[in-house]
Amino acid sequence: MAVYISPLTEGFGASATGFSIRDGLSESDFRDIELALNAYGVLVMPDQPLDDEAQVAFSERLGPLEETLVGAVGAGSKIVRVANVLPDGTLKDPDSQQALFTRANFLWHTDSSFKATPAKYSMLSARELPRAGGGDTEFVSTAAAYDALSPDEQALADRLIAIHSIAWSREKFAPGASSEEQRRRLPPVPQALVRTNPMTGRKSLHIASHVMGFEGMSDAEGQALHDAWLERATAPDRIYRHRWSPHDAIIWDNRATMHRATPYDETGDRRIMIRTTISDFGPTVRDGAIVEAA
Ligand code: SIN
Repeated sequence: MAVYISPLTEGFGASATGFSIRDGLSESDFRDIELALNAYGVLVMPDQPLDDEAQVAFSERLGPLEETLVGAVGAGSKIVRVANVLPDGTLKDPDSQQALFTRANFLWHTDSSFKATPAKYSMLSARELPRAGGGDTEFVSTAAAYDALSPDEQALADRLIAIHSIAWSREKFAPGASSEEQRRRLPPVPQALVRTNPMTGRKSLHIASHVMGFEGMSDAEGQALHDAWLERATAPDRIYRHRWSPHDAIIWDNRATMHRATPYDETGDRRIMIRTTISDFGPTVRDGAIVEAA
């Protein structure tokens, strides 16, 4: 087998074909995939019918998997169920905290940047797609966002530490979108604003809706700066929008991209996506100082 990589846009994203995850990948094919993921930020892998076991086994080759968040369906397992359907097959009440929590994925974000150890990569596979369409996923490159900053802005960003909070992003999206337990068990954490990819040496601007401010700045000043950078990073001509087909799987590099879900008919249709989330090397800030991956 050989892995074929074809770019999806001029700046980032590629499709990877020529292999079957279920049939297994050689070390060299797997390495080609990880190199492409680091080079392109988003890798679309069409025609990969997966069950949870196959997805977990493939994802674990990329690194240790996170446990699913407290209060989410599947908490404590390695599988995140991003769905409007509960495990018993019924639709979520659209006004429930769990539905609001999932719908807050409509905000641009990077996965798990609100945890002390953020996510390195995520893998999302389509298990059931809305028959009437919708439910696309959009991506932007935060490496391109860093490149587009002026030299003075880059120098500022290089020194900044951002504070990320899941309660902040969820409550901003809709009051009641986070549970009391999530707010208690997931307090705000510091993260380096600029990440350097250890494989490519490329820097990226690690912004996201989870950012509630920057150390050393007032909340108002920090939010204004963050929102201005977010707006530039997510300008329409910077977005890759993925329209899912059955058996698509996508892996993305959370250090170098942001993503967001888009609407579909949540009360009349069904969408079940399964995510596995690969942990980064550890906290990006220790004792107040920025730490780089070795
Ligand atoms: C996610 O944000 O992890 C999932 C995105 C989606 O549901 O399209």
